[in-house]
Amino acid sequence: MKIAFFDAKDYDITSFTRCGEEGIRFKFYETKLDEDTVGLAKGFDGVCVFVNDRVNAAVVDRLYEYGVRIVALRCAGYNNVDLERCFGKIHVVHVPAYSPYAVAEHTMALLLTSVRRIHKAYNRTKDFNFSLNGLTGFDLHGKTVGVVGTGKIGRVFIDICRGFGMRVVAYDKYPSGEGNIEYVPLDALLRESDVISLHCPLTEETHHLIGREAFTKMKKGAILLNTSRGALIDAEALLDAIKQRIVGAACLDVYEEESDIFFRDFSGHIVEDDVLARLISMPNVIVTSHQAFLTEEALANIAETTVHNLTAFRDGDLPENELCYRCGKIEDCKKSRRQRCF
Ligand code: NAI
Repeated sequence: MKIAFFDAKDYDITSFTRCGEEGIRFKFYETKLDEDTVGLAKGFDGVCVFVNDRVNAAVVDRLYEYGVRIVALRCAGYNNVDLERCFGKIHVVHVPAYSPYAVAEHTMALLLTSVRRIHKAYNRTKDFNFSLNGLTGFDLHGKTVGVVGTGKIGRVFIDICRGFGMRVVAYDKYPSGEGNIEYVPLDALLRESDVISLHCPLTEETHHLIGREAFTKMKKGAILLNTSRGALIDAEALLDAIKQRIVGAACLDVYEEESDIFFRDFSGHIVEDDVLARLISMPNVIVTSHQAFLTEEALANIAETTVHNLTAFRDGDLPENELCYRCGKIEDCKKSRRQRCF
C-alpha cells in the first residue's frame, strides 16, 4: 500500500518510521495537500493528511480520479475534509484520541503562563532584570472556569481545573452525563466565568461561536483559552474585545487563518495577517502555533492508530475509526450495523 504523506514534519517522519509496518510505504511530502499539490497523490492508494491540508470537493474529485481510496487524517478534527463529497468514493479515517492529556495540559500551561506572567518573567530574568513590577497575577483557586465542550479533552481539563480548586461550569450541546459536571446554558457560562476554555469541534454551528455578541455577555477581564479550532472565535471581534478591555487575556493555540502561517518559520519575514500581528503584539495575548498535541506520547499514538487504520482498510477489516457525513446522524447507518460507511 502506497501512501502520500502531506505536510510532513521531522517529528512525523520519526514517529511514522519508528512504527513502520512492512506493507505500507509512505512518501513524505513537506507541502500541504490542496488543489495545487493534489497531483503529487497520483499513483498512490491513499493520502495521509493533517489539520491544515485542504481536502475540499475539488481535491476529493482529483484524488478519486487518481485511484486514491482512503484519506487517513492523523488528527481528531476533520473540518478540513469534505466528508459529503468523499461519501461513496473515498473512505476517511481519523485518530479520534491520541492524548487528551497533551491538549488539556497545554491549555493549563497557557492559562498559568498568562495569569502568572511567566512569559514576561522569563524574558526579564534572561536579561538579568529581577524587577517584579507589572507581574502581579491572581489565584486560580476559587475562580470559575467555563468549559465549552465536555468530550475527551474538555473532561481532562475539567479534572485539572478541579485540582486547582476552581469551580467548573460547562456547556455542551450533547452532554454525556459523565463526570458530575454542572451544565449551564452558553449565555450563563459567558456571564459567570472568569476563565473560558473551548473544547468543542469546529462545525457550521460552532463557527464564530465566540463572536461580537458573545463578547458583550462576558465578564469584564475574562480570560479566553482556545486550543480547539481557530474559527470558533471571530478573531477581529476578539481584537476589539481586548482593546475594549472586555477580554483580560487570550491564550490561543489555534487561529482562524492559521493554515498558511502556523508550522512555518516566518522570522525575518513580514507577516501579512494584520489581525494576527496585532493580537501577537498585545501584552495579554499568548499564541502557540497549534502545538497542544505535541508530546512524545501523542505522536506515538497518532502513528500507531493511523497505521492500524490503513492496515485495517487494506485487509478489508472494519475500520472502526471511519468517518462519514452521516455517522451518528441517520438512524439506520451502515456503520451501526458493523459494516463500512459505504
Ligand atoms: P470530543 O469529540 O471527545 O468532544 C467534543 C465535545 O464537543 C463533545 O462532548 C460534543 O458533544 C461537544 N460539542 C459538539 N458540538 C457542540 C456545540 N455546538 N456546542 C458545544 N459543544 C459541542 O473531542 P475532543 O477529543 O475532546 O477534542 C475537542 C477538539 O479539540 C477537537 O474537535 C479538535 O478541534 C481540538 N483538538 C486540538 C488539538 C490541538 O493540538 N490544539 C489536538 C486535538 C484536538
